[in-house]
Amino acid sequence: MSSTVLILYASVSGTAEELATLTARKLRAADLAAEVANVADFPAVSLAEFDTVLIIASTWGEGEPPPDAADFVAALPVLHLPRLHFAVLALGSRAYPQFCAFGRRLDEGLAKCGAQRLLARVDCDTKLKADFERWLAGVRRMLGAR
Ligand SMILES: Cc1cc2nc3c(=O)[nH]c(=O)nc-3n(C[C@H](O)[C@H](O)[C@H](O)COP(=O)(O)O)c2cc1C
Repeated sequence: MSSTVLILYASVSGTAEELATLTARKLRAADLAAEVANVADFPAVSLAEFDTVLIIASTWGEGEPPPDAADFVAALPVLHLPRLHFAVLALGSRAYPQFCAFGRRLDEGLAKCGAQRLLARVDCDTKLKADFERWLAGVRRMLGAR
């Protein structure tokens, strides 16, 4: 079981990837080991190797995952991850009826695997700076407290 914080992103136009990289930089500055990966390159079954995963995920289409994230979420229902802690930052836009639907699906999917929320999911509209900072502050507090 790795103590490295895994930071996964699911992105089409790059925002979630940028925030994942920034999150890793902030955690490393706080002396925490952090690793960043695209969910497209990360087999969901490997979540079992980590203690903590942070997922930053955008929603596309009409409430859909980014196309290259579909396999990752489809693999979740068979996983049992009772030792995993997680936090989801969901990116979206209130201009769409299914606001942040993919982030919600990931958050619920991980909970159904038995994983434990580090903190409640935060849903972001397109002006996301304040929500991102609130989420990151919560993550840092929870990681420092454990
Ligand atoms: C074609 C298109 C479809 C989108 N569909 C949704 C949607 O269904 N729900 C939602 O909340 N946001 C939707 N969004 C907004 C994106 O999730 C949002 O812009 C996000 O910040 C993009 O992050 P990314 O750059 O990491 O892909 C859509 C954006 C585009 C351009």
